[in-house]
Amino acid sequence: MNQDKCMPPTDTQQGTLKPGLLLAPRLEGTARPPLKVLVLGGSGFLGQRLLHALADCPGVEALGASRRASVGPIRTAGVAGKAESRASTRWRELDSCDLPSVRAALTGMDAVVNCVAGSATAIAEGARVLVQAALQAGRPRIVHLSSQAVYGAAEGWVRANAVPDPDPGLGWYGRAKCQAEAQLRRYAGEGGQSMILRPGCIHGPGSQLWVGRIGRWLQAGRLGDLGAAGDGWSNLVHVDDVVSALMAALWRPLVPGEQPVWNLAAPDSPRWNQYFVDLALALDATPVRRLGRQLRLDAWLAGPPLKLAEIALQKIASRTASDLHLTGRLPEAIPPGLLRLWRQELRLDSRAATQLGLRFMPYEASLTASAQWFAAQAQQQQNQERQHDQEKVHTLLEAARAAPRFRADAPPSGTGPAPEKAGYP
Ligand SMILES: NC(=O)c1ccc[n+]([C@@H]2O[C@H](COP(=O)([O-])OP(=O)(O)OC[C@H]3O[C@@H](n4cnc5c(N)ncnc54)[C@H](OP(=O)(O)O)[C@@H]3O)[C@@H](O)[C@H]2O)c1
Repeated sequence: MNQDKCMPPTDTQQGTLKPGLLLAPRLEGTARPPLKVLVLGGSGFLGQRLLHALADCPGVEALGASRRASVGPIRTAGVAGKAESRASTRWRELDSCDLPSVRAALTGMDAVVNCVAGSATAIAEGARVLVQAALQAGRPRIVHLSSQAVYGAAEGWVRANAVPDPDPGLGWYGRAKCQAEAQLRRYAGEGGQSMILRPGCIHGPGSQLWVGRIGRWLQAGRLGDLGAAGDGWSNLVHVDDVVSALMAALWRPLVPGEQPVWNLAAPDSPRWNQYFVDLALALDATPVRRLGRQLRLDAWLAGPPLKLAEIALQKIASRTASDLHLTGRLPEAIPPGLLRLWRQELRLDSRAATQLGLRFMPYEASLTASAQWFAAQAQQQQNQERQHDQEKVHTLLEAARAAPRFRADAPPSGTGPAPEKAGYP
């Protein structure tokens, strides 16, 4: 990302900003100390993309963190129209539920962006620990990634200014996100600066959830036009728009006691059926199937055993879930919760996000970027498998050549001593 893309939105510019630009404030001169930003969940989809954007911004010192010992150079797919670009960043291994580690990582930081996901504990307990650590470590600004899941089964247009009712029907994820938000409110109540972003479904390059697996289900004919079951709103938002919003939030002036909350969904994001058909066409996954009962059977009957098989295979083969699915070793379970999401008529009202200088990437452009990433990823996977097969054949041939019965100087059978055993029975 060049320096121009790190320029801040100004009030007068807001109508003219190019969509999808990664925004950071104008840094006047070099006299200012760098802004020190900790990114929790830095090894994830969004965390990596954010670290990449921060690494390219002058005047920022970013530190990524997660349970991994390292992530090497930060790799993000499709940044600035390139297939893949890299940036180096500082890294720290920590568990977000471990107070001393989080406090140590926060010491000296101006701000922290919380991109942790994965389990209810990591989200809810992680947020409690983060707030505790922040209160003890000089009260850095917290920019917290929440989710539309806090709205539960709500339908119609939803604005971000209300505190969501804890809905008893919320799944584990929505509940954990609500509990995490409550911690953030406690932080604001104790004088800490914080803001909350509630994205819809984040797609674009690198999105395994909303591009990778959806694309694979479309190609396998397990997903298509769902009729009424797919008439809910997708609330899609491009990953770079979320990164832009996070970066703008890092520098946005706050009045004491204020805790802004923003919804993030592109206003032109379509209904799910439309997205499935458009993505299928973009991936040549045609003819697009019309599905109804079959999808319910797939999710409710095949889903649980597939999930169990995935967990077992992960343990045996030490592979990640996405490795297993990408190599086609295991069909991916369709979680029944998605069936509810795909028919939910919830629409995130994201107009307030203009306060962050955000102009959302148009749907068509984000769809194209998603499809290109999917195709590149499939190609890369194919190349890796081909190389793996070639290596296997090579190893087998080597083993066969080393076996005595293939030795050119071995006497014909029956005319000499019996050949030695060659390592296989
Ligand atoms: N993706 C979406 O469509 C979407 C939509 C709405 C909201 N969000 C929210 O946006 C944020 C980022 O999502 P994402 O898609 O980037 O998630 P992701 O790819 O699953 O990344 C999750 C990150 O959390 C880290 N993590 C999990 N447990 C941890 C622990 N105990 N201690 C430290 N780190 C831990 C993981 O790293 P390690 O495994 O290396 O520890 C990883 O870096 C999350 O808060 C998510 O809820 C995402």
